[in-house]
Amino acid sequence: MVSSREIIPEHYQAFRAFLEQSCGIVLGENKQYLVSSRLGQLMEREGLKDLGELVYRVQQPGGQRLRGMVIEAMTTNETQWFRDTYPFTILQETLLPEYQRRGVQQMRIWSAACSSGQEPYSLSIALEEYRARGARLEAEIVGTDISPAMITQAREARYSASTVNRGLSPERRDRYFVREGADWVVRPEIRRRTQFTVHNLLDSYSNLGRFDLIFCRNVLIYFSAESRESILTRMIQQMRPGGYLIVGASESLARHARDLEMVRSHGGVIYRLRGK
Ligand SMILES: C[S@@+](CC[C@H](N)C(=O)[O-])C[C@H]1O[C@@H](n2cnc3c(N)ncnc32)[C@H](O)[C@@H]1O
Repeated sequence: MVSSREIIPEHYQAFRAFLEQSCGIVLGENKQYLVSSRLGQLMEREGLKDLGELVYRVQQPGGQRLRGMVIEAMTTNETQWFRDTYPFTILQETLLPEYQRRGVQQMRIWSAACSSGQEPYSLSIALEEYRARGARLEAEIVGTDISPAMITQAREARYSASTVNRGLSPERRDRYFVREGADWVVRPEIRRRTQFTVHNLLDSYSNLGRFDLIFCRNVLIYFSAESRESILTRMIQQMRPGGYLIVGASESLARHARDLEMVRSHGGVIYRLRGK
């Protein structure tokens, strides 16, 4: 195991540059301990003597597998059902009724950096509950994440008892999940409108199509101001007229005020694409 004391400054700087270039994540000046704790086992398994060798190997032809494992180890996948509550309340009480009034029948929703699927499935449950009030509105919900392991887990839609209880009421759990052994599996009527794809937010968005609603929460905080601006500018281009963008509770879009109008609702802030 590499200890943080053994990471020489030159290797640390090279690793920081590699990480930012490949997935946008900016590591602080003194996060050597984080690198050691996240990569120690992987480096031991792969027989890498130090961080310098790791940076060299990921950049060689054939380094793709190792590159994927390093990014996987360095990302934070923390998530939960109906995270922060207000985005889902706004969806049910304001956005879905608005889309219905406008005559939209099929919405497209993007859950960008969706981790293991809790956010897209929470969106689907919120829509299912709205439809139970008699609405005919439907949606295609696209979940994307850079991590193949997270996307596999999201597609499987299978969660342990402790994971399923994080943010989910027992009523919603019993209604929208089926118990299989020790796990809980999302019911087909919630899964049917979701699809999942591995996608790096630094890459092009043109293959994803355009969206009425984009959730991009708790991921921009890890990026540089430059990457954040580029991601948001390109997301705005993927929004359909009258579309909405919801970011994390601590993330601000003040710099995009020309394109996005701030809307305060149900104790939170969301952003509406300004009419062109
Ligand atoms: C903290 S989780 C947030 C999950 C969910 N959006 C939420 O708010 O609960 C951050 C996710 O961003 C993903 N991620 C990090 N860098 C990324 C990138 N460049 N492109 C796409 N996803 C990325 C990670 O794999 C991780 O699953």
